[in-house]
Amino acid sequence: MNILVTAGPTREPIDPVRFLSNRSSGKMGFALAEAANQAGHEVILISGPVHLEAAEGIHRINVESARDMYEAVSKQIDSADAAVFCAAVADYGSGEIAPEKIKKTGETLTITLTRNADILGSARDAFHFDGVLVGFAAETQNVLAHAREKLEKKQCDIMVANDVSKSGIGFNHDENEVTLIFADGHERGLPRNSKLDIAREIVREIERLARLRIA
Ligand code: PMT
Repeated sequence: MNILVTAGPTREPIDPVRFLSNRSSGKMGFALAEAANQAGHEVILISGPVHLEAAEGIHRINVESARDMYEAVSKQIDSADAAVFCAAVADYGSGEIAPEKIKKTGETLTITLTRNADILGSARDAFHFDGVLVGFAAETQNVLAHAREKLEKKQCDIMVANDVSKSGIGFNHDENEVTLIFADGHERGLPRNSKLDIAREIVREIERLARLRIA
């Protein structure tokens, strides 16, 4: 199969020297790319700025902002049989980037942010993607309820619920612990394990769903 993976944070520029971003290290997304590659799949990895190397054989595309990631996904997703959206994409970005470095003038600074396009949410309708679609939901409260809402809203086959309020897992850690929520309503918890082992289980579930589609 051809599997597209998004990973890492995005950077939303404010002026020529500053940006807004988040704590995603890219480890989970890179683990997914590695697990899929080791399982014999062709992998396109679209990554925000991270300090990680992708294994040889993985086709990596580097992007910065949510808008760049949207463009890259829109160009690549046609060739994918499955797509896993693990990136922590900024929901809001600076609509107008100041052309010069913003000067320190007042005691407060107000920046207006505008909503970025939802890349995963565009997969089915705007990109007409009909392969196996997997999203991640990074939540700090009502984790499963919010993840179920996202599964439906973004028309995914699997939503990976990630409780990022728990210590030792989630953003920037080497381990994770997640619940897979499937479109048919069943759920499967994956207990705390290395991100690579969690990724291998997710890839197995993608393979299973892809086989069901063919049968
Ligand atoms: O990178 P690590 O340090 O290893 O951390 C891993 C992780 C915590 C980032 C990862 O496991 C995770 O939970 N990724 C999803 C982070 C996130 O942004 O979740 P969300 O609930 O805000 O977004 C829901 C889904 O929509 C995600 O699949 C996201 O990629 C996608 N999305 C969100 C906004 C947007 N504009 N476009 C999107 O595609």
